[in-house]
This record gives sequence, structure tokens and C-alpha cells, in this order.
Amino acid sequence: MNDAMSGFDRPVQTWRDIPGWFQWREGQEEAAEFFADGDRFVEVGCYLGRSICSLAEVVGAAGLDVEIIGVDWARGSGPEGPAEVNAHGPAVEFGGGTMAGLLHRNLIACGAADSVHLLIDDSVSASRLFPDESLAWVHLDARHDYDSVRADIEAWRPKVRPGGWLSGDDYDSWNWPGVVQAVADSLDGATPWCTAQWRWLKP
Ligand SMILES: C[S@@+](CC[C@H](N)C(=O)[O-])C[C@H]1O[C@@H](n2cnc3c(N)ncnc32)[C@H](O)[C@@H]1O
Repeated sequence: MNDAMSGFDRPVQTWRDIPGWFQWREGQEEAAEFFADGDRFVEVGCYLGRSICSLAEVVGAAGLDVEIIGVDWARGSGPEGPAEVNAHGPAVEFGGGTMAGLLHRNLIACGAADSVHLLIDDSVSASRLFPDESLAWVHLDARHDYDSVRADIEAWRPKVRPGGWLSGDDYDSWNWPGVVQAVADSLDGATPWCTAQWRWLKP
């Protein structure tokens, strides 16, 4: 078990060495089996790169030729959750007000810097860079309050192509009721997915 909120300057060789909470690799493996060469994946909310470096490894192991784009404004989510914990604050402070350096360093260390495009930007602003229906899979893991998740869903849903997936992390009504409620209020037919994830299949 790694400590998600410390040890930022420890050496990194694989995604397993990166601080974070990621624990749903089976979902990435399902995506690598389901999607095809030429598709584009976006992860919104990368923190220090644990989940996106795993995704790059999964995609590489499957021999899949897809574009992976990570979006994070690298300033953390601020205090959130039932205990109002500022979980990313220490990493932001470590980097002098941004996690971008650590995130990029970790991508390089994992050999993922050439297969992952990193956009240091706000989620909703970044979504406007993509044409509608141009993305196969968008995974949302940015701020987890109701309004933020609704805004992320509204911004990214049009960008997913028919037959693609819109999914997200922390589908957990005890710790993250805003995520569960925002998904229920925004997406007809969204369902729980692998380990604490939700997913909506675009008709
Ligand atoms: C829960 S962490 C992501 C964890 C990562 N997916 C993992 O599993 O390793 C949430 C991230 O969302 C980012 N974030 C929060 N609000 C954002 C926004 N409006 N736009 C872009 N990124 C945001 C934070 O900077 C933080 O890095």
C-alpha cells in the first residue's frame, strides 16, 4: 500500500511506485480489450500519474495503438469529502504551487511520456479543445462535489462518440455522495462498474 499523500521525491519506476489511490486496473484492461487502434482516451484528473501510467502500461501490453490524453490543472482539488481533506495539498505545496512537475517526472520515469499527452488545464476548458464525438473513452476523476461532477459530465459527454464510454471514479455514496447524485441526475442508464467506478455507454 503506498502513501498517497507523501514521498513525492521517492524514485519511480512503475505506476505502482507513484503515490495515489488508483485501484481499478481491471477497468483499464477491459477498455484495452474493447477499444481499437486509432481510438482516443482522456483521463480527467491525473494527480501524480498513478492511474494514467497504469493505463499506458495496459495499452502498451495489449499492443493497442490509441492516443491517451491526461487533463489536470495540477493545483489539486482543495478540501473535499466528508472530512474536508485537502488530499492533494501536500503535493501542490511540494511543487511550489503546482503538481505539474511531479506528474511529468512520473510519466517520464514510467516510460509513458511519449504515449501520453498531458494537458495542464481546467477540465471544462480543456473539453472545448476536442470536437464532439471525437473520443472513445473519457474517464472523470477530478473534483468530486456534485456541481463539479455535473459540470464535468456536461462538458465531456458530447465529446464521447456513439458506442464509447463515459466513466468516473469514486462511485461511493458514503464517501462521495455528490458523485453518485450527479451521475444519477445527468446520465440515464449509467451503472456501477468495476471497483468503485461508474460507467455510461453512449448510445
Ligand atoms: C482524485 S485526483 C486524481 C487521481 C488519479 N486519477 C489517480 O487515480 O492516480 C483528482 C485530480 O483532479 C484534479 N482536478 C481537480 N479539479 C480539477 C479541474 N477543475 N480541472 C482539472 N483538474 C482538476 C486535481 O488537481 C487532482 O490532481
